[in-house]
Amino acid sequence: MTIDKLPNLGLGLGLRGEHFNHILKHKPAVDWFEIISENFMDSGGRPRHVLDQIREDYPVVMHGVSMSIGSTDPLDFDYLKKLKQLSTEINPVWISDHLCWTGVLNINSHDLLPVPLNEGTLQHIANRIQVVQDFLERPLIIENPSTYLAFQHSDIPEWEFLNGLVAATGCGLLLDVNNVYVSAFNNEFDPVEYIENINHQHIVQMHLAGHQHCGDHIIDTHDSPVVDPVWELFRLAWQKTGGTSTLLEWDGNIPDFDTCHAELLKAKQYMSGLVGDIDLATQTDERDLAVSNPIDFMVTKVADSFVK
Ligand SMILES: [Fe+2]
Repeated sequence: MTIDKLPNLGLGLGLRGEHFNHILKHKPAVDWFEIISENFMDSGGRPRHVLDQIREDYPVVMHGVSMSIGSTDPLDFDYLKKLKQLSTEINPVWISDHLCWTGVLNINSHDLLPVPLNEGTLQHIANRIQVVQDFLERPLIIENPSTYLAFQHSDIPEWEFLNGLVAATGCGLLLDVNNVYVSAFNNEFDPVEYIENINHQHIVQMHLAGHQHCGDHIIDTHDSPVVDPVWELFRLAWQKTGGTSTLLEWDGNIPDFDTCHAELLKAKQYMSGLVGDIDLATQTDERDLAVSNPIDFMVTKVADSFVK
């Protein structure tokens, strides 16, 4: 299978346990759902029972957080076997994970850590994507992560790095528009340049989410509505891709289903028309700036210790 065979599923939502009952009872008019793969790999029980029912009515894709494609540890074939087993059982439309590493020496940090963006890393990750794709017998879809730091050893813009992975492996891309905005603010690059130059033909899916603006940095929290500058970036990405499957992620302070669904449907306002003339690189709103940030200290400490 190649990525050009993958369909535009429309507007979808991340499947969260808080919404199971609502979905089963009301069968809302959402086009598709995305699951976190790891939440269904080692467990049966009610979550799997619910998923099996939801699959009868909606397309489902698998989105992973533990492949650690950027790590220097060998690929974890126990993990990959479980991933493939789940895909065999639930037949997702595609499988995605992130451009990141999650640990080393068999320690899982349970975080999506950034990789140095250079030729050596590109070759390393491209080789691993090839192995994963051969094993899963389907293309892997790679998502751009939110980043808070830049390595001194990075000398390739992230969009160019992702385009290099596409050229080397034929993988698909999951363009998280909020992540572009967060990383652009934190690392001082132009999000419009990013979206204009990423390989639009290989973007299989887009993500939207909210974040917390902490003044001099942004944390990708998925716990609030999508901010206007991210919507404007989405409008640009929609134009450049010609429209592709789009999904809203909401993982903290999760509101009721209808609130999430209403936020998702705002996307329709941005799926046509010209890009607005707001300053995407600098705009914040008062709600953002009012947030206090308990991990500010940690981020500052890490930043001071080894990068940029
Ligand atoms: Fe995402």
